[in-house]
Amino acid sequence: MNNADDIKKQLGIYAADYVKNGMTIGLGTGTTVYWLLQELGKRVQEGLQFTAVPTSAKTKEIGEGLGIKFKELDEVDELAIAIDGADEVDKNFQLIKGGGAALLQEKIVEAATKNLIIIVDERKMVDTLGKFPLPVEVITFGWAHVQKRIQSLGCKKVDLRLRDNQPLLTDHQHYILDCYFDKIDDPISLNTTLHNIPGVVETGLFINMASEVITGYNDGSIISTKRPV
Ligand code: 5RP
Repeated sequence: MNNADDIKKQLGIYAADYVKNGMTIGLGTGTTVYWLLQELGKRVQEGLQFTAVPTSAKTKEIGEGLGIKFKELDEVDELAIAIDGADEVDKNFQLIKGGGAALLQEKIVEAATKNLIIIVDERKMVDTLGKFPLPVEVITFGWAHVQKRIQSLGCKKVDLRLRDNQPLLTDHQHYILDCYFDKIDDPISLNTTLHNIPGVVETGLFINMASEVITGYNDGSIISTKRPV
């Protein structure tokens, strides 16, 4: 029986095999990707050469400390692959992301590849999205009005995310609203509805973006599944 951290570490090592010499890749954010960064850092020391586009300031900071070479998104064309974690994955490969507050940059970077590989432990695989509160990134101006409009969509609770008792500011100087929908029956239409609210910058619904999900199980096994095209 492995604990959550062991599984994340195994996933990081497994996913590092996807990174080949000469690639330009997107690197996600979070505690699972942390282990991927550690493994890639080791492989860079052993001679692996690749360039990465970070999905957050945190990933860039950790990666640079490990010797990983980064570029800005606008300095590169298509990314060969991107690897990231997620907060929930449903059976149609739709995702909730943004638990680490990096959803905006993650979505922009990951839109630059056809090969978005998601690494998650089995607890994040769900039938229906929504138990994990959906992060929505909003402009700071007028955020409480956006909060009310999301509540009026039938969302049970909408919390402004705090850090150290202050509103958390994302890398792009926005706020995050954590939206407790409980059950998201139609993620595609909810994503569109949320985008139509003035003040919403981006949602944590990653629709039809993941091409492959690598799941780590408590018994130590790892299974990769490709999204049918
Ligand atoms: C950050 C994210 C992360 O990928 C997501 O929250 C999963 O993180 P972790 O691997 O720490 O559970 O979307 O914005």
